[in-house]
Amino acid sequence: MSVKVTIVGTGYVGLTTAVCLADLGHDVVAVDVNAEKIARLSAGDPVIHETGLKRLLVANLASGRLTFSNQMSDAVRRADLVMIAVGTPPQADGHVDLTFVEEAADDIAPHLAGFTVVCVKSTVPAGTNRRVGELIAYANPRADFALLSNPEFLREGRAIEEFMNPERVVLGAEDPRALAVGRAVYEPLTKRGRPLLTTSIESAEVAKYAANTFLAARLALLNEFADICEQVGGDIEEVVGVLSADSRIGPHFLEPGPGFGGSCFPKDVGAVAYLCEGLGDAGGLIRTILPSNARRQQRLARRILEVCAVEPRQLRIGALGLTFKADTDDVRDSPAIAVIEHLKRAGAHILAYDPAGMANARQAVTAIDFAGDAYEAAAGAHAVVVLTEWQEFRALDLAKLRAAASGPDLFDFRNVLDRQAVERAGFILHRTGAASPSRRHDRVAVAAQPRSRQRSRARS
Ligand code: UGA
Repeated sequence: MSVKVTIVGTGYVGLTTAVCLADLGHDVVAVDVNAEKIARLSAGDPVIHETGLKRLLVANLASGRLTFSNQMSDAVRRADLVMIAVGTPPQADGHVDLTFVEEAADDIAPHLAGFTVVCVKSTVPAGTNRRVGELIAYANPRADFALLSNPEFLREGRAIEEFMNPERVVLGAEDPRALAVGRAVYEPLTKRGRPLLTTSIESAEVAKYAANTFLAARLALLNEFADICEQVGGDIEEVVGVLSADSRIGPHFLEPGPGFGGSCFPKDVGAVAYLCEGLGDAGGLIRTILPSNARRQQRLARRILEVCAVEPRQLRIGALGLTFKADTDDVRDSPAIAVIEHLKRAGAHILAYDPAGMANARQAVTAIDFAGDAYEAAAGAHAVVVLTEWQEFRALDLAKLRAAASGPDLFDFRNVLDRQAVERAGFILHRTGAASPSRRHDRVAVAAQPRSRQRSRARS
């Protein structure tokens, strides 16, 4: 059954959802206040970098199932389901600014006609869906509507693929009519065996934060073990091999690196930590996740400064990677940029290159230079640092890179390069989660200390 869906907001979540729901056969209108963006989207320009998005956008515009508009009134009047997918920007203290969600509720309310399901797709604290309901009921007491919470679990770079093959669809509702519309929307996926979980509205809201917080905590913990390996020996890759053989831990989402970033994990973990502060002693562990992640980035910058042993103000670093992960142009809360900022503060000069994030990075980072490719970034550098796991970096001509750099140190903070090939090219390789070659002797000395202290205590 085709459902008339109207999506408010054409950001990352709204646009992906609009394109995919149209592709599943629904009749979709996506609304945004930004007229220039609407014009570009209507012309088949996806505006953001997302694998497979352009193809689906163009195909569904052509089929007539997808249109873009800046007219809220018509778009809402026609809809069986209105999805709110606007931004929820984090504030400095971690709390989520819900102004855009509340404005969307106010904008929708007067135009609701006939029974309509109103759904918040944006990631929002528990209670927000009900708040939206109250705002609508206040603005339009005669509106006939029911609430549905339908959080998304999509990863940037794989959003289309994951939308079409979700591990689960979550529908939080208490009105059976809302659930029925939600089920109809996702029927093309559930018919193919994809699981649909129904919960209360609050559970759906909390589950989204819980999922991101679990994943972020997993990475923070993993990177703390990478820190430990870097200092006392051991190799995090071998440790991960052991961990992932335990089915309770599993093999996924265990890539060590410079910490997590992006527009979701830092924001969502910050929001939960903020919430916990207001709940007295709740969330002791949760509150340590972001500081742990920040320490990781600081430590990696310190590692570079220590290994290079060049006066920081003379130090030239070739930085490969600026985006928060590969296959995106997004640099929001990028761990790559966090490491660069620490190096910059120490006085180092940075020449950076990224396959897709240069334009965004130019807006986000000041006082660094940008190179046209990886070799240019390495030119004259005391050290080259891989900060994002781009496929392009795996295929580098390492001899050419070594010839460009002035120093022999190569820091592979995503462990993407082939160890032997890097060393054959004449680099000294410093991997994430493994001690630096030049520091192996110190490690033995450090590891030996506590035992000898213990013995002398026992003797005295
Ligand atoms: C994340 C979640 O994975 C999605 O399920 C969720 O829907 C989304 O947030 C959201 O809330 O909208 P995303 O931010 O696109 O998705 O990025 P991830 O692929 O999860 O990566 C987040 C960060 O963790 C990146 O900096 C990445 O490099 C890092 N990461 C990820 C690792 O360092 N190691 C890993 O093994 C995996």
